[in-house]
Amino acid sequence: MASARRVTELKVNGTTRAIDADPEASLLNVLRDELDLTGTKYGCGEGKCGACTVLIDGQPAHSCRVRVGVASGRSITTIEGLAGPSGTLHPVQQAFLDLEAFQCAYCTSGMIMAAAGLLAAKPDPGEAEIVDAMQGNICRCGTHPRIVAAIRKAAVSMKEERR
Ligand code: FES
Ligand code: FES
Repeated sequence: MASARRVTELKVNGTTRAIDADPEASLLNVLRDELDLTGTKYGCGEGKCGACTVLIDGQPAHSCRVRVGVASGRSITTIEGLAGPSGTLHPVQQAFLDLEAFQCAYCTSGMIMAAAGLLAAKPDPGEAEIVDAMQGNICRCGTHPRIVAAIRKAAVSMKEERR
């Protein structure tokens, strides 16, 4: 039987999943190693690159720096849970594809999660606001201009959907 000090469940992508983790373990490690949600990437492990970005209660967070004991009881969304129930891509995912806003794509899931969190909080951000909000996400391939354009495109699509 798991010790009471262990974290035994996590609410991820709308489902409560059983885990057995030290509360001090990083959320990123638990997502990848225990739950096989490998779309969330390990980059720096120090909260500096954003490859590991997920949404916690709708807010973008660097999962490498979040202890799973803190994340327990909160609602976590990873890239695997962003598409709609029928598999329809989130507008940010679709815009990244449409504008080919990636090269190696290692940063992409983190970028998309950060952008989805931004647009949920601020539906019509200007370019400067997008650049500012994405400061925590690094693309080593230099695709930032296309990433910003994709986020703008997603904002327009989401505005049309709301009509
Ligand atoms: S791996 Fe988490 S910020 Fe770089
Ligand atoms: S597309 Fe390669 S790091 Fe961003």
